[in-house]
Amino acid sequence: MSGVKLRNMRILAIETSCDETAIAIADFSPPFPEKAGQAGSKSKPRIRVLSNIVSSQVKLHAKFGGVVPNLAKREHQRNLTPILIAALKESKLLRSKTNRKTDSKTIEKILEREQELLTLFKKKILSLEPPAIDAIAVTMGPGLEPALWVGINFAKALSHLWRVPLIPVSHMAGHLYSAFLQKNGTRKAARHALRTFQFPMLSLLVSGGHTELVLARGHGKWKILGQTRDDAAGEAFDKVARILNLGYPGGPALARLAEKGNERNIIFPKPMINSNNYDFSFSGLKTAVLYYLRDHKYANKKDVAAAFQKAVVDVLVAKTLRAAKTYKPKIVALGGGVAANKKLRDRIGKELKKELPKTTYLLPDMALTGDNALMIAIAAYFSGRKKALTEVKADGNLTL
Ligand code: KG4
Ligand code: ZN
Repeated sequence: MSGVKLRNMRILAIETSCDETAIAIADFSPPFPEKAGQAGSKSKPRIRVLSNIVSSQVKLHAKFGGVVPNLAKREHQRNLTPILIAALKESKLLRSKTNRKTDSKTIEKILEREQELLTLFKKKILSLEPPAIDAIAVTMGPGLEPALWVGINFAKALSHLWRVPLIPVSHMAGHLYSAFLQKNGTRKAARHALRTFQFPMLSLLVSGGHTELVLARGHGKWKILGQTRDDAAGEAFDKVARILNLGYPGGPALARLAEKGNERNIIFPKPMINSNNYDFSFSGLKTAVLYYLRDHKYANKKDVAAAFQKAVVDVLVAKTLRAAKTYKPKIVALGGGVAANKKLRDRIGKELKKELPKTTYLLPDMALTGDNALMIAIAAYFSGRKKALTEVKADGNLTL
């Protein structure tokens, strides 16, 4: 920790769980959240975003119709160093070296499985003056383990080199917190604030790998009410998009096509919509689309897209509303890549207004629905769990 009287907590966050290489730097105050933002707390945490960079590998993986873990690992190795330099520069924290001695033996050991990254690290990072950063946050899971390890080992190397603690974070906690970043002003002169936390809070997390309804009773006090038993919502969008030849990742393309179709012309099943729990299942729906197209050679693709989207959204809305009526949360929030879906955003908003008008509805900024490191920084601030290097390990199946 730098200095005795910290006024801020400056967190550098790293996210490499899938096909986005991302680094963000943000200041938080008060320096330690403790009870800040909890029910009954007077202090409202503040954030200042210094840098938030996301580099997508989507084009590379598109050729293969999905994310190839080892290609993702290679790209993260190549991207992390230049992105870190850019993030430090943007944050005005980039300074070149003193004649400080660095112990490159330990760095070599930490990065022994990421030789390409090690080469860049030695060339560009060892020669930097340690920047004024108080902690390094890193996604430890869930995600693709080879990809996660690159970010984790990079974070460990920086933590060792700059003598700052590590905060491992769950990617899903990141998605959960993404709805709390409020962006004001224009894109160039954006000002950020943290929205007020109120518990209990219900989050619908919908991404390429997960579909979860989470009830929070406080920071870190998560309870997963339900989750998908097979495909995630985003995965279903991607698979159906592939059936319709819309490329990869198909979610956004499918949603665009759906806007031009009539969602009432075809009726697809709505799996588990009436089941007496908060679980989901989307793989049967994907099969239903496949059979429909097999049996209807001249099917209108726009209608297929619209009807599929309606089936997914109907299920997500029904379960979220049912959980909201049962647990009466003060806030309902969305997070994850599928939270970019306009239909889903609008429908939950409308239903909440009609049925539970006192509930605050929080949506992540469109730029924060997909994977990014800023959400990891926010989750790290509220988790505050510093860990020793040896304790931080990738966990592809980490739960919240
Ligand atoms: O959170 P995310 O960026 O990565 C994971 O952690 O998985 O989510 C990506 C997922 C992909 O499946 C993508 O197709 C889906 O989010 N997605 C959408 C939309 N935009 C992205 N799905 C439906 N409608 C969208 N507008
Ligand atoms: Zn994600």
